[in-house]
Amino acid sequence: MLTQPLPPAPIRATGPIDTAPIAATPPAGTDLDPIWAAIVPESRARSNDIHLPISLAFAERLLAAHPEANAELVRVSVLLHDTGWGRVDGSRIISEGFGENWRAADIRFQHEQQGCTIAREVLPPLGYDEEFVEAVCAIIDGHDTRQVAHSLEDALVRDADRLWRFDHAGIALASSWFGLDPATYSDRLRAEIVPELLSEAAIAMANADLDRSQALLKTGVLR
Ligand SMILES: [Fe+2]
Ligand SMILES: [Fe+2]
Repeated sequence: MLTQPLPPAPIRATGPIDTAPIAATPPAGTDLDPIWAAIVPESRARSNDIHLPISLAFAERLLAAHPEANAELVRVSVLLHDTGWGRVDGSRIISEGFGENWRAADIRFQHEQQGCTIAREVLPPLGYDEEFVEAVCAIIDGHDTRQVAHSLEDALVRDADRLWRFDHAGIALASSWFGLDPATYSDRLRAEIVPELLSEAAIAMANADLDRSQALLKTGVLR
């Protein structure tokens, strides 16, 4: 079986929760390097070359808190989940993908579908079997536009995708995508994104990071 059933939220950790700054634990190992090498062009879209590595580092922390999850499925899905931004109309990414109703924007659905196409192109030649590739696609498809997770692995990918924003690198990039100053954006993270997190581990990491980032960026005064 590739996935574990989705427990009720907040999903309780069964392993340790590490809330230290994410730079302390970069993505581990080199086993995914052939996939990274295959998606270099797609990594240049929408700052994926920042978002995807940081999100993978968070995914690996979530996996330490959830040793029962299928780690390879989570890691590969996080690495590939937003590569589809590299195959959509780049001029529409910010105007439609980050405007009002961003979750329902056509360009959002397109980046999910293109991400699945890329997974089906990249993974089989690297030796991943069809069942695994389809499990990856099931997570990528709807990762932004679906309201619900379907498995523990799906939930951990969704949380890792959100957690990178709480680091100061994520605030720096994503605040500009939404046209917000860092203080307003970080307030919005606390009010709107923390409640979307599904796992106890992700909630702890998000709050610790947000406290650090707001202090670092002087958001108490620069508002
Ligand atoms: Fe996405
Ligand atoms: Fe993402």
